[in-house]
Amino acid sequence: MLEIHLDEHDIDRELRADVTTGLAADPKWLPPKWFYDARGSRLFEEITRLPEYYPTRTERAILAGHADDIARLTDAKTLVELGSGSSEKTRLLLDALLRHGTLGSFVPLDVSGAALEEAVAGLTADYPGLAVRGVVGDMTRHLAHLPDGDNRVVAFLGGTIGNLVPAERAEFLSALRAALHEGEWLLLGTDLVKDPAVVVPAYDDAAGVTAEFNRNVLRVINRRLSANFDVDAFAHVALWDDRNEWIEMRLRATSAQRVTIGELGLTVNFAAGEELRTEISAKFRREGLENELGRAGFALRHWWTDPAGLFGVSLIQAVTAA
Ligand code: AVJ
Repeated sequence: MLEIHLDEHDIDRELRADVTTGLAADPKWLPPKWFYDARGSRLFEEITRLPEYYPTRTERAILAGHADDIARLTDAKTLVELGSGSSEKTRLLLDALLRHGTLGSFVPLDVSGAALEEAVAGLTADYPGLAVRGVVGDMTRHLAHLPDGDNRVVAFLGGTIGNLVPAERAEFLSALRAALHEGEWLLLGTDLVKDPAVVVPAYDDAAGVTAEFNRNVLRVINRRLSANFDVDAFAHVALWDDRNEWIEMRLRATSAQRVTIGELGLTVNFAAGEELRTEISAKFRREGLENELGRAGFALRHWWTDPAGLFGVSLIQAVTAA
């Protein structure tokens, strides 16, 4: 069963607004959420299996090692997952929470109705005793529609919080805090600051999958907005920003480009070498994260990492707002 807070019409409106704003800006940018049509989601799944892309497998190992701790510490009755996608890693958590005996329902929330439908069908079949309710929505805007309840745990995994710039993160965390009761939980995955020689290849793999994933946003705009981006005229760029401690993905026009976006009645020019920013993926330090959480009314209670300190999973509790 799916609950829809965001239909194709809303999504279309948002895409038009983002493209209009982002391509008129200097420098040009597009939000990363538009990577994920069916092809983009498939490419991302492929990324998660690349030798260079450490976050997914590292987070999975941390969760496997601590799922029972999470169950014991939270006594979760409801697990909400933001940006759940295929809900693959979630099974580790569901298994532990069901073993622990407190869990009654699982609520995955995702912008992609198609991905969600598939995930919900699979989970419903495999977990007959569990109430699974998918919510189609935008995690930054539909937090108020979380199911009410007690002992809720909201999982936000994969390091996706890093796609938000600090001001957006503050806004997101406050909205999430407002949706939770004191004592409820956030289970957060964050990629950690490390040697750029490790981070950069994770976003610029030898097989070129990330490059295809990055260029996919242009295909999405071509298809949904009748645009004519020459996708092959844009080169994938991944660069580490040392001051902001984030990796930035860009698309660089290899020659001058004039692009028409039919649905918007818009023409956009790119100079040769001009870059379009398509994603930031911030990397975190424990102390900085604790400060951000504190300002939003959260307290970091448990912090787990892998032996190499590549990735962090934190169990965070809603406390009195600062
Ligand atoms: C799904 C947002 C966590 O930022 O690492 C993968 C997306 N971008 N390779 C990330 C992504 C390039 C990924 N997140």
